[in-house]
Amino acid sequence: MRILLVGPPGAGKGTQARQLAERLEVPHIASGDLLRGAIAEGTELGLAAKAYMDRGDLVPDELMIRFIADRVSEPDADGFVLDGFPRTDAQALALDEVLERIDRPLDKVIHLDVPNEEIVDRLSGRRMCPTCQRAYHVKYDPPQEPGRCDEDGTELVTRPDDAPETVQHRLDVYHSATKGLLRHYDRDGVFSCVDGIGTVDEVAARIHKAIGIEG
Ligand code: AP5
Repeated sequence: MRILLVGPPGAGKGTQARQLAERLEVPHIASGDLLRGAIAEGTELGLAAKAYMDRGDLVPDELMIRFIADRVSEPDADGFVLDGFPRTDAQALALDEVLERIDRPLDKVIHLDVPNEEIVDRLSGRRMCPTCQRAYHVKYDPPQEPGRCDEDGTELVTRPDDAPETVQHRLDVYHSATKGLLRHYDRDGVFSCVDGIGTVDEVAARIHKAIGIEG
């Protein structure tokens, strides 16, 4: 199955995509995680992307498109849960083109709908594992041991772009650059809007229903 999750920063895309990918036994392809990995490795892309990400701006399309087109074309990506890409009309058109060329069409596009006030609350309490990139929340989804990742024991960090002024900018960027995406996908029967308010399990159940899987 090939699923795309779209929605504002902090909507819970990564949290849901990670669990859904495990459930479907497909890779979770997250543009933000891939970029943070590239920064940690000091690759050319990572070096080019870092300043944009720290400011909460989008990384230029020409860098992103080649990067993600390569990833969705890899042999293990016959099924996937994609999160964070596309974010602009140009990226959406490029994704359509590459998926058509490799005959891997999207089965479902899920829009996670969460209002701005909730997002500010979620991102102010987010803590992230720099090793496996799993997100936690100090109140809504805390790790078993405070400040440590359940998966690998790494000390959790706050993402630089979760500073309140950067969050507001990311929301503005989303609403100006990314909203056209909803129109792009709301056309061919694959699009569903899911209410992203509620517990992680409640939202997961709505997503499962929208894509037609049990439980
Ligand atoms: P990226 O990493 O993709 O960030 P984002 O889209 O802003 O999304 P987030 O990771 O902030 O949030 P999320 O929706 O995954 O929420 P999460 O599950 O963590 O991108 C970062 C940057 O990279 C961009 O700003 C840009 O610079 C660049 N970039 C990436 N892709 C790009 C592209 N295609 N083009 C150009 N540039 C690109 O949840 C958030 C918090 O809420 C967590 O603490 C979580 O525990 C908690 N939470 C989750 N679900 C719930 C719930 N139901 N109830 C309560 N709390 C919850």
